[in-house]
Amino acid sequence: MRLKLFLVFAFLLIPPAHSVIHRAVDIIEMIRDVTNAILKVCDVVESLEDKVTGTHDKQGQLMNRIEVVDDHIRNLEQMESLRTALTIETLIQELHQQSQLQHKLNLVNDLTRIVKSRYAQLGDYIQHKHALEPATLLKFAEWNVDPGPGSLAMQLELIHSVLFEDEGQADNKTDFVNTLLSQLTLNYEKSPGQMCMAKHSAQQFPFQLYTSVALTELKAYSMMEFSWMIQRELGKGNFTQEIALMRNNYARRMESSVRVLSQVMARSGRVYWRCDPGKDKHVSGETYDRATRLLQGYVENEANLGENQGCWGTCGDYPDTRSNGCYKGDKELCGKQTPCNGRLYNCDDMDSDVEICPSEGNSSRRYEYIQSDDGATLGRKSSNGRCESATKTASSGWYYMLWRCSYCFCLCDEQGPLSDRYFNLRDSLSDFMENKVVTGVRFVKSNRVFHLQLQQGELLPRGAINVSSLEWLPLDSYHLNDVDVRNDYDYHTLTVDSRAMDLDEITSGSNRSLVVTGARFRVWHKHLNLEVRFSYFDFPTGRLVEPKRNSVWLNNSNTEKTIEKPRQELIVKEADVPTAADQPSLPLSTSNQYMNFFSSSKVKDASQNTLPFIDVQEVVPHPAVPLAGLGIFYKSRPGSGGFFAPKVVTYDYSQYLKEVSLSTIQDDSY
Ligand SMILES: *[C@@H]1O[C@H](CO)[C@@H](O)[C@H](O)[C@H]1NC(C)=O
Ligand SMILES: *[C@@H]1O[C@H](CO)[C@@H](O)[C@H](O)[C@H]1NC(C)=O
Ligand SMILES: *[C@@H]1O[C@H](CO)[C@@H](O)[C@H](O)[C@H]1NC(C)=O
Ligand SMILES: *[C@@H]1O[C@H](CO)[C@@H](O)[C@H](O)[C@H]1NC(C)=O
Ligand SMILES: *[C@@H]1O[C@H](CO)[C@@H](O)[C@H](O)[C@H]1NC(C)=O
Ligand SMILES: *[C@@H]1O[C@H](CO)[C@@H](O)[C@H](O)[C@H]1NC(C)=O
Repeated sequence: MRLKLFLVFAFLLIPPAHSVIHRAVDIIEMIRDVTNAILKVCDVVESLEDKVTGTHDKQGQLMNRIEVVDDHIRNLEQMESLRTALTIETLIQELHQQSQLQHKLNLVNDLTRIVKSRYAQLGDYIQHKHALEPATLLKFAEWNVDPGPGSLAMQLELIHSVLFEDEGQADNKTDFVNTLLSQLTLNYEKSPGQMCMAKHSAQQFPFQLYTSVALTELKAYSMMEFSWMIQRELGKGNFTQEIALMRNNYARRMESSVRVLSQVMARSGRVYWRCDPGKDKHVSGETYDRATRLLQGYVENEANLGENQGCWGTCGDYPDTRSNGCYKGDKELCGKQTPCNGRLYNCDDMDSDVEICPSEGNSSRRYEYIQSDDGATLGRKSSNGRCESATKTASSGWYYMLWRCSYCFCLCDEQGPLSDRYFNLRDSLSDFMENKVVTGVRFVKSNRVFHLQLQQGELLPRGAINVSSLEWLPLDSYHLNDVDVRNDYDYHTLTVDSRAMDLDEITSGSNRSLVVTGARFRVWHKHLNLEVRFSYFDFPTGRLVEPKRNSVWLNNSNTEKTIEKPRQELIVKEADVPTAADQPSLPLSTSNQYMNFFSSSKVKDASQNTLPFIDVQEVVPHPAVPLAGLGIFYKSRPGSGGFFAPKVVTYDYSQYLKEVSLSTIQDDSY
C-alpha cells in the first residue's frame, strides 16, 4: 500500500509528459493528463479506505493530493498566460460595439469568475490544511457538488452552452457557425485591432479562447472530484452514481467543445500581419524604413533643361530630360542648390515666383517646402512656420532674349549616396539540415539594401516549435561596392522603369506536408517578385524529410500581360507620407497585384519622399508556429502613401485537432 501511494505521489510530482507548451494541441493533452491524474488519485483514495485510520489523517492525505493537482493547474495557467496577451477581459473591452457578443462574453466571464473565486478558496484551505476543521472542509465540499441551480456543475454547463452551442439550431450541429466561439472568431478576423493586440492569426484565436475556458472547467472538475472524495472519506456515503454522472458530463463537454473548436478553426483565416504602431509611434529604422530619392521633387529653370538652352516652350515639353548646368540668365537658384545629376521627369510649370526652403545637410529631402508668392505651399512648414536654413528665391519673371523663362517642378531620378533603392536578391534559407523552419519575417534595411530577414525555429513533433531555439537568421549584409557584389544578381536597383513590387501571398495550398524554409526576391518582368521555399515534413515526428531534395520554390509568375489572371496594378495618387496618417493602415491589396514605388504628393510633401514606406516591424505570430506561406502586401488609408509589409500564413492545425483523442479520459491504463 505504502509503495502504491508513493508511486502515485511520484507520478503527480512529475509534470505531465510535455512540460512546456510548444504547440497548440498540447494543451488539450495536458488537460487530459491532469484529468487522468485526478482520476488516479480518486482510485488510490478509494483503495485507502480503512487503511489509514483517523479522520484527520485522511483529511491530511487528501489535502496533499489536492495541492499537487492544484500546482499542475496553476502551472498550466501560467504557461498559458505567457503565451498570449488575450484574456476574456481584454476581449470584452474590444467588443464595445458588439453588444450582443459582449453580453454573452460577459456571461462567460462572470461564470468563470465564480469558479475562480471558489478555486481561490480551495487554495486558502490548502495553505491552512493543518489547522482546518473537518466540518469546514465538508461544508465546502457539499457546496461544490450541491445539485442546486448555483452549483459548479450548473455553471460549467452554462459556460459550455453559451460558448460552444448553436443558438436554436439543435438539429443542425454540423458547422457551428452560430456558436459564440465561431462568432467571436469571425469578429476577430474582421477587426485588426484584436489581431494587433493578440499577435496571432484568426485560426489561433479560438484556440486561445478555448484554452482559457478549458482551464476553468478543469479547475471546477478537480474541485468536484475532491469534493465527492472528501464527503466519502468523511463517511457521508458512497456517491458512486453521482461521480459517474459527473465524469460523464465532463467527458461529454470536453469532447463536444473540441469538436466545435476544430470546426471553427478549419474555417478561420490563417493570415497574420502587423498593424501600424499607432499615430506618433512611427520610428524610422524601428517600425518603418524608406527607399529614398527615387523620383524626387526638384526645381529647375526651363533655361537649363534640354539641349539648346532657351525658353521657347513650357516645362511640360520636357517629360524626360536632364539638367544642363546653370545658364547665365539664372542667377537665383542654380548653383545655390545641389544639382540633380540624373534624369528629370514630368516637368511642370511653376506659375509665380517661389521661395524655397532647402533641407539641412544629409537629409534625404531636398526641400522642406516651396512657397509661391500667392501663399500656396508645396510641402509642410515646420510648426513655427520658419525655415531653419536660409530661404532661396526663384523668380519665374526673368527673360531670356524675348522669351519668359519659368521655373519647372520636375521629378529627379538620381542614384547616389543619398538614394537608397536596393533590394537583396540572394536566397535566405533556414538551417533546414538542422530541422529548422521559418517562424517569422521582417524587412530590414542594412547598408542601404532592403532584406527580407527570416526568423527560424526547430521543428518538433506534430507541428510544434522549440521556442528556446527561435532566432533571427543573420543578415547577408554586404556592401554595394564589395568586389563580388553585382547589380541584378545580388541586389536589384529600383529605377524609373523597374520599380514595381509584386503583391502576392505564396502558400503551400492545401498540402499540409509543406512548411516554409526560405524566401527570396527575384526580378520577374522588371518587378520585384517574391519566391518562397517549402520543404516536406512528417507531422508525427516533426522531421523535415530530405529537405535538400524535397524542397520547392513557389512563386506567382503572372505578369500584366498574362492572358489568364493578368496581374493588376494598384495605383495610389496624391498621397502624403504614411507616418502622418491619423488612422492606422489596413490591407488594401489582394494577391496577384503589383504597385510601383512613386513620389509623395507634390502639394502635401513637395514630392520629397518615395512611397510606399516599408514596414520593418517583425511579423512573428505568438505562440510560435511553422508557416504555410509568406506574402508581401500593401496597407494604407485614403490619402496616405501606405506601407509595403510582409505577412505570414500560419500552419493549419485544424485537421490534426480532430485526431486528438479524448476518448482516453476514462482510460485506466496508467
Ligand atoms: C444545416 O445547415 C446547412 C448549412 O448551413 C444547410 O445547408 C442544411 O440544410 C441544414 N440542415 C438542416 C437539417 O437544417
Ligand atoms: C460502496 O462502494 C463499494 C466499493 O466501491 C461497494 O462495494 C459498496 O457496495 C458500496 N456501498 C453502497 C452502499 O453503495
Ligand atoms: C553627413 O554624413 C556624413 C557621413 O555620414 C557625416 O560625416 C556628416 O557629418 C554629415 N553632415 C551633416 C551636416 O549631418
Ligand atoms: C530546444 O532548443 C534548445 C536550444 O537550441 C535545445 O537546447 C533543446 O534541447 C531543444 N529542445 C528540444 C525538445 O528539442
Ligand atoms: C505535398 O508536397 C510534397 C512535396 O512537394 C509532395 O511529395 C506531396 O505529394 C504533396 N502532397 C499532396 C497531397 O499534394
Ligand atoms: C516559378 O514558378 C513556376 C511555376 O509557377 C515555375 O515553373 C518556375 O520554375 C518558378 N521560377 C523559379 C525561378 O523557381
